[in-house]
Amino acid sequence: MINLGILISARGSNMDSILAAIKAGRIPRAKPQIVISNNADAEGLKVASEKYGVSTKVILSEGLKRQDYDKKMIAALEEADVKPDNGLVCLAGFMRIISPEFVRHFKMKILNIHPALLPSFPGLHAQKQAIDYGVKVSGCTVHFVDDGVDSGPIILQRTVPVVEGDSEETLAARILEQEHQAYPEAVKLFTEGRLKVEGRIAHQL
Ligand code: GAR
Repeated sequence: MINLGILISARGSNMDSILAAIKAGRIPRAKPQIVISNNADAEGLKVASEKYGVSTKVILSEGLKRQDYDKKMIAALEEADVKPDNGLVCLAGFMRIISPEFVRHFKMKILNIHPALLPSFPGLHAQKQAIDYGVKVSGCTVHFVDDGVDSGPIILQRTVPVVEGDSEETLAARILEQEHQAYPEAVKLFTEGRLKVEGRIAHQL
């Protein structure tokens, strides 16, 4: 089994899609251990505990250097038995950049979902960046986390059309539907040992 730690900052709908897939038996090798947020008001915390009975924890960042915050995060994950040799950390709308120390500690054991077809439009407001650029296709990317921003090996991508008159919100909603399919699928691939990273390529076995 792979022990899962999920990090969220707000709504947590991607977390919900992963926990729902596990509950439905679609990711049999994943065991959710903890959901952690940097925001005490994150709606997803209630969903995790009330809908799925998963333990939750809030770690506030105020006054802490990035490295010290991440030390607390690693300690909380390990306390919940999410470790590099048995675990997977899923960033699911976690709106913080994580430190190189965190990335190194959980080397190739951290996944992220981004609402654009990377390497286009990394960082914040990816959907708005896509609209402003005038692309006709966008989508989402699930990738391993490395030291850069949204730059690690790509596991899978799903596309959606960008249509005339789209706003940031309408495009975000169209992409989100695909995110909810893609993230559980990527977690399943990881937990089944079907991803092999060579350089920046994540091969699917
Ligand atoms: C999702 O669209 C996710 O791709 C995005 O935030 C949203 C979180 O929604 N993440 C990023 O932009 C990271 N750069 P959720 O809390 O409902 O899962």
